[in-house]
Amino acid sequence: MKQLIELNINGRNYEVAVNPRDLLIDVIRKKIGLTGTKKGCGEGDCGACTVLIDGKPELSCIKLAIACQGQKITTIEGLAQEDGSLHPLQQSFVDHGAVQCGFCTPGMIMSSKALLDRNPNPSPQEIKHELSGNICRCTGYKKIIEAVEAAAKVWSQEGVK
Ligand code: FES
Ligand code: FES
Repeated sequence: MKQLIELNINGRNYEVAVNPRDLLIDVIRKKIGLTGTKKGCGEGDCGACTVLIDGKPELSCIKLAIACQGQKITTIEGLAQEDGSLHPLQQSFVDHGAVQCGFCTPGMIMSSKALLDRNPNPSPQEIKHELSGNICRCTGYKKIIEAVEAAAKVWSQEGVK
């Protein structure tokens, strides 16, 4: 039986009717229409579905939507700047060739954002560790690490949010 719940996503409240077993990824993509978050494995193994919940990276494919009421959810769509320009992390991924097919990119960027929010000046090892749950089939990871390192420089200089 469906239940009406309220989810706060990217600072906006959405009322949606869900079944108790509906997963956050499916609600975000299919009911709310925010398709930036990707569903890869659907089993908690690839990181493509990563969103931030109260600032922490979480796998939305293994999270019940109903359990996310009262929490602040951030998806890739929530990162653009007020003037509509790309977030420095997004721009850095573009600038460093860290995007190929792009399927892993939203998850990579959300995990990276959680890291830089916590530690604006991470070492390459810390970046690798943070992104260890995010799988990329295309880039070989080197450019992704470089993109996060470069974004971190902007972050610490400009105090990006
Ligand atoms: S789709 Fe969620 S971890 Fe792969
Ligand atoms: S860019 Fe294709 S999976 Fe990462």
